[in-house]
Formats: sequence, structure tokens, C-alpha cells
Amino acid sequence: MNNLPDFPWDKLEPYKERALAHPGGIVDLSVGTPVDPVPQNVQDALVQAADSPGYPFTHGTKALREAAAGWLRRRHSVTVDQRDVLPVIGSKEFVAWLPTYLGARRVVFPELAYPTYDVGARLAGAVATAADSTLALGPERADLVWVNSPGNPTGKVLPVEHLRKVVAWARERGTVVASDECYIELGWEEEPVSILHPDVCGGSHEGLLAVHSLSKRSNLAGYRAGFVTGDPVLVKRLLETRKHAGMIMPAPVQAAMTAALGDDAHANRQRELYSARRALLRPALERAGWRVDHSTAGLYFWASNGQSAWDQVGKLSEIGILVAPGEFYGPAGERHIRIAVTATDERIGAAVRRLQ
Ligand SMILES: Cc1ncc(COP(=O)(O)O)c(C=O)c1O
Repeated sequence: MNNLPDFPWDKLEPYKERALAHPGGIVDLSVGTPVDPVPQNVQDALVQAADSPGYPFTHGTKALREAAAGWLRRRHSVTVDQRDVLPVIGSKEFVAWLPTYLGARRVVFPELAYPTYDVGARLAGAVATAADSTLALGPERADLVWVNSPGNPTGKVLPVEHLRKVVAWARERGTVVASDECYIELGWEEEPVSILHPDVCGGSHEGLLAVHSLSKRSNLAGYRAGFVTGDPVLVKRLLETRKHAGMIMPAPVQAAMTAALGDDAHANRQRELYSARRALLRPALERAGWRVDHSTAGLYFWASNGQSAWDQVGKLSEIGILVAPGEFYGPAGERHIRIAVTATDERIGAAVRRLQ
């Protein structure tokens, strides 16, 4: 696989070491990995399903699919048939393999984006194009367009009108639109909308896929739990391929995910934790000379003090705070840093004091 990029996080190592040397310890805001506990009812469901000797279904249990459809209806006003839900082993693997499943020759994704869209295009041997506007794409055919709202790294929410235009553009050309909605429950100053919402897609899911993750909503990054839904024909094709390839979510994780999707109380509590951390960290960053752009939703502050991304990473590492340079997400990020709010209240408090 020699066409894959170097793993960028290795470049952060020296800054991590500097941050680790801080007498008060590191405040690691570089990776968006959850730190709060897995909800107890979800842990219980996992344990109760521990005795699972047989092969699980690639399509998942009916209970899981119904829980996913119920959550979409309840929380996002999206109606899907439970048969059109397909569990994935965390959304990252699906993002990486979707272009291969589709036999895509050209894949489009946002200019500032989660790096796995590009990796997926490379794994499929497809041409990868970073573009925020379909106008920039020219006449050449695209097989797959990724949208990501709320976006990583910018925390930007794509308005309904923008999503409608992407859908119309794609439908005219027979292009599949895959919408990565893993931060959809984390709207702060704006309310994110699913690509499958009737206001966006006009009630038809043709050519559309929505990818969801339980990692952030329910602190299940360690369980590897997500699902894809949308166009029934596409989902059926994906199911067939994944059956052949053995891409099966473990049965205890299916049970845990069913419990997580059926319960909103824990997700609301988790939202409150992130909201409080944002409310502390943002003014501290601004007082210390950072401007926060976008960031109206999601788990990150997309910030700049005008210097190069690496200078900003270096400056914060001196006070023991580790963040990600914007260039990890595309050349347009060369003067930004991405700051995750996924740290404990105690660590966020330490960051706020050090920024004073
Ligand atoms: C935009 C985006 N998509 C997908 C993922 C993968 O999430 P997971 O594989 O945990 O579901 C992430 C993780 O941070 C992400 O930021």
C-alpha cells in the first residue's frame, strides 16, 4: 500500500514530549477521543450479551436496526426502514472502504477534512479531489462525494440549502453522496441537519448514504460502533459485499449499541459536559490571542492566532497543551489549530489556568 500518506500524528510526537514535561502534566486536546465513562446501561447490555458463541449477522439484529431507525426518527426527523440500516465496526473502517465497495474512480471530499476520505480514495485506486464546491469539479465524472456536517476539523454546519444543492448536483450525474454525520448530535450554536432529512432530499434517499457513529454521542469509541443507512439499493449492495468480507459487528457490541441508541438521557448528559467545557475553554483561548472560526457544532475549536500551525502547536506545547496542526486536514489549515474539548473537567481547568 505504498500510495498511502505517512501517518501524520507521528509528526506531533516531539510536541507531545514537550507537553508531557510540563510539571502540571499534559493537557491532551489533540485527538477527539472520549474520556467520560461508557453509560452504565450500555455496559450492562454488553455484559449481558457476553455469552455469544455463534456468528452474528452482518446486517445486525432486528432490534439494533430498529433502535437506529427509532433514533433517527426521534432525534433527527429522518425516516428509514429498519432493513436499510447496516452496522459498521466504527465509522472509520466504512469511510476507508466505501470507495472500494462502490468501485469508485473519482472521490470528492471537503478541502479541510478528516484524512480518511482521502485514504479511502487511495485504497480504491481512485482519483481524490478536495473541493468544497461542486462548481470547482468541472465536467469530469465523480462517483462519490463526501460531505461532513458538523465538520471535522472546522465545526462548521452545512445549511439545508447547501446540502440540497449537493444532492441535486449528484442526482443529475448519478454520483453517490455519502454524508458523514458522526457529530450530528453536537450542535451548539447551530442545529445540524441530516442529508436524509426530507427538507434536504425531498423524501427520497436515492443515491444517498448517511454514516453515523456512536463514538462521540455515547462514548463508544472503544466499542467500535456505527451504522450506515440511506438508499435501499445501495445498502443492500453494501450488505452483500460486507457479508463476503466478514465485516461483522461483534454480537455484544450490537447489544450495547442497541441500548445506546434507545436511550437519550446519557447523550443529553454528555452534551452538557462538552457544552460546559467549551464555555470555559473558548474565552480562555480568545483572551490568550486566538480567534475561533466556525466551531458552531462538533467537538473542536478551529482556531488561529495568525501564526503558522506548527508555531501555534509549539507555543501551546510549552504550557503543556497538545493540539493538532490544521495542516493535518488539508493545506487550507496551515494557519489553524484544532483543539478538542474531549478532556476531563480537571484537565480543561488546567488548560484554562495555563492560558491566563
Ligand atoms: C469526521 C469523522 N468521521 C469519522 C470518524 C470515525 O469515528 P469512529 O470510527 O469512531 O466511528 C471520526 C473520528 O474522529 C471523524 O472525525
